[in-house]
Amino acid sequence: MNAATPASCACFGRQAHRYNTEAGLQRAIAWRLAHLAAALPLPAAGPCADLGAGTGLVGLALQQQGLERTLLQVDGSPTLLAHNPLAQRRSDQLLWNLNDDLPAALHNSSLISSSFCLQWLQDPAERLEHWARALRPGGWLVLATPVAGSFPQWHQAARRAGVPCTARSLPDAEALIAAAASLLKLQRHQMLMFSQRYSPAGLGFLRQVRRLGAGHSDQPPLSPSQWRQLLHHWPVDERVSWRILVLIGQR
Ligand SMILES: C[S@@+](CC[C@H](N)C(=O)[O-])C[C@H]1O[C@@H](n2cnc3c(N)ncnc32)[C@H](O)[C@@H]1O
Repeated sequence: MNAATPASCACFGRQAHRYNTEAGLQRAIAWRLAHLAAALPLPAAGPCADLGAGTGLVGLALQQQGLERTLLQVDGSPTLLAHNPLAQRRSDQLLWNLNDDLPAALHNSSLISSSFCLQWLQDPAERLEHWARALRPGGWLVLATPVAGSFPQWHQAARRAGVPCTARSLPDAEALIAAAASLLKLQRHQMLMFSQRYSPAGLGFLRQVRRLGAGHSDQPPLSPSQWRQLLHHWPVDERVSWRILVLIGQR
């Protein structure tokens, strides 16, 4: 590992045993990304890596859809990698803090995929540019990440309750598209909307976030009475919605 386990990874690590059962949305997006990636004409040489691979949902979906190349499973959580069937051999995994530059072994990659990880990093647009630069000519970047504008129901409840919104800040989609387009020929940039109803409305959603291990925030925590206020003002009849950016580009 290039540094101590990042706090976001430690949070996922504590819930690693539950991740696959809770990660319905992540599994669906992994399948869609793999479907798009499996059709790409990858350069014959150069490593392939899944960044923030976690339990391996993207790599497994790619395998099921016919990718015959080994996808290095890169993550900052040793616990999630231990739950990843594609990372059982030491040579198939890399424990790495993705806030840092990629190791030299991944320079000249032919495929870099990443799903639901970029939003956890300190400077997502700058990281995305770095990942694009690590591709060899003809190499592909295949990415999905939630972006700003997700969870309007949470932001609205916080405004109505007069408490801070502790949802993690998410990257701006336009900034990510611009960062990728500065180095890649974009084949696709698409915004997917996803929404789900929870019961009880706010509490059900927040419990699911915690069970998944995604509860780490870059905002200071609320007090118990602020939480009560927030839940009291949560819009009861509304589904919680995500905006997910899918980006595919070639170097
Ligand atoms: C929501 S999970 C997504 C896992 C997988 N890509 C999927 O789609 O199911 C986010 C992953 O990003 C990893 N992660 C978060 N911050 C990271 C960092 N700074 N360095 C490396 N991995 C990180 C977490 O450990 C976790 O495995």
